[in-house]
Amino acid sequence: MLILEEAAVRSVLTPERCMEGMRKVLRDLAEGKCAMPDRLICRMPNTAMLGFMPAYVGDYYGAKVIAAYAPNMGTEYPSHIGYVMLFESVHSTVVAMVEAGSITEIRTGCVSAIATDLLARKDASHLGIIGCGAQARSHFAAISRIRNIRQVSVYDLRREAAERFAEEVRGTGIPVTIADSVAEAVRDADIICTLTPAKEAYLTREMVKPGAHINAVGTFTPTTREVDSDLVAASRLYGDYAASTRTESGEYLIPLQEGKIQESHLLGDLGGLLTGKTEGRRSDSDITLFDALGLAVEDVESAKMVYLAVQ
Ligand SMILES: NC(=O)c1ccc[n+]([C@@H]2O[C@H](COP(=O)([O-])OP(=O)(O)OC[C@H]3O[C@@H](n4cnc5c(N)ncnc54)[C@H](O)[C@@H]3O)[C@@H](O)[C@H]2O)c1
Repeated sequence: MLILEEAAVRSVLTPERCMEGMRKVLRDLAEGKCAMPDRLICRMPNTAMLGFMPAYVGDYYGAKVIAAYAPNMGTEYPSHIGYVMLFESVHSTVVAMVEAGSITEIRTGCVSAIATDLLARKDASHLGIIGCGAQARSHFAAISRIRNIRQVSVYDLRREAAERFAEEVRGTGIPVTIADSVAEAVRDADIICTLTPAKEAYLTREMVKPGAHINAVGTFTPTTREVDSDLVAASRLYGDYAASTRTESGEYLIPLQEGKIQESHLLGDLGGLLTGKTEGRRSDSDITLFDALGLAVEDVESAKMVYLAVQ
């Protein structure tokens, strides 16, 4: 059995390769070629959210066990810590343990980039990012490969995090501004990424311009969200996997409970868009909203890609 650490993950999962793998596995999921039992997310007494995320992707299967630990924000420790345990499907032996913090970081940005490619306007060029941690880096890296990004605006509660990330963006030659508020960061943005562990909605209807595309990524439980109900109601809403969105997503469930949307407001998911079964953007003025919970098939497929590349 191989133990594959972060360096191996980063050397194999370039944004291009990872996006290709994620497109394939999301299509396979939509076509019934994968299995993804419900995941278990439990709050530990130290406030860590411990996730157990199993999936079967055909030739391999396994589970990611990961702790999301917000108190590590701004420290030398990562905020996502764990491994994917990877089994081969013929004899069910364990072939690898693959570092999962880096997989989570990279695959999440790549899946949002796929959603952006499917839903954002073709001429989208201004990227607004809220929350300047690990996800900001992977989202910028992947989204700047699928749209011609000419301006980036960023906001973080911690100014030093915004400054550090802005410096990295500047290094690529793309102009970047550090905003003093969420509203300022997203005012002119064509693509908005919400990448924070905030519990309450902070992105509201009046902040977002017509035609924008939003990737809502930071929250993944029924009671937490980043996008407010009126903005969800004004958007064309898609999940990463609709069956999970219906049971786990605060972005969907809270406005549903408030009576601001009906069940039919959830139009579908990435698999439906990739296989052509779900209709995407209808007009240049639509606001599109992609709500990411994070899927175990993405993690197992990523671990498999790393294992196959290095074995
Ligand atoms: N949906 C998914 O698939 C998925 C995958 C990975 C991470 N996540 C979630 O995304 C979020 C970000 O992950 P990360 O790895 O980048 O974390 P991180 O700790 O590296 O960065 C988070 C950043 O957000 C900032 N922040 C916190 N609250 C804020 C607020 N209200 N407004 C503005 N900025 C704020 C912090 O200062 C920090 O810089 C976490 O909640 C994480 O659990 C979701």
